[in-house]
Amino acid sequence: MFITFEGIEGTGKSTQIALLKAHLEAQGWRVRTTCEPGGSRIGAELRRVLLSLENRDLCPRAELFLYLADRAQHVAQVVRPALAAGEIVICDRFADSTVAYQAAGRGLDENLLHGLNEQAVDGLWPDLTILLDIAPEAGLTRAVERNRAEGKTVAEGRFEAESLAFHARVREGYKSLARRFPQRIQLVDAAGSIDQIAAAVRQLVDSRLTDLNGPE
Ligand code: TMP
Repeated sequence: MFITFEGIEGTGKSTQIALLKAHLEAQGWRVRTTCEPGGSRIGAELRRVLLSLENRDLCPRAELFLYLADRAQHVAQVVRPALAAGEIVICDRFADSTVAYQAAGRGLDENLLHGLNEQAVDGLWPDLTILLDIAPEAGLTRAVERNRAEGKTVAEGRFEAESLAFHARVREGYKSLARRFPQRIQLVDAAGSIDQIAAAVRQLVDSRLTDLNGPE
């Protein structure tokens, strides 16, 4: 099973991914957690270029192709082999991020991006996508605090430095994707407590696992 987590900055994706991993491992599953950008060795180099505040002049099309390159490498080298080995793969961001950020956020053509994503994922779409939804004001405050705590202000912060309006567009982009793919993308309100969100996520994942594997 391939699960992806999506959402704007500061929705608590990493926390929820760690909790879900522990929940699945307690049931006996082998779980691989990974992320985009940066889930492969080459992707880690691309991530530095993509997120560095030094690269404010990266143009939207170049940015797009770097994300797609990261994805193609990650799918081929990490995600597909892990799934083939019987692991559950949980990925922090995937193809929907490109539609939300580069189309809704940056204004690139959405249909063009769907086609390019199709090439990058090479037929491998998630079985389930959890969209953690939060108001940009709340999310950005959390993200900026987290980056400060982790000392990331210079190395990574190109997106946190974007305007509130940008993040509001990204959020709407995600919601429109959830309407377009209602079976795959499940929206979870990320304004609640960590435990409430984790319970909602567990329920969605457990029920999709039952659908895929049949009842015990
Ligand atoms: P994160 O891994 O810390 O969430 O940061 C990744 C950043 O990259 C985040 O701001 C969203 C952005 N992003 C895109 O703009 N397009 C993409 O396709 C992906 C995967 C991420």
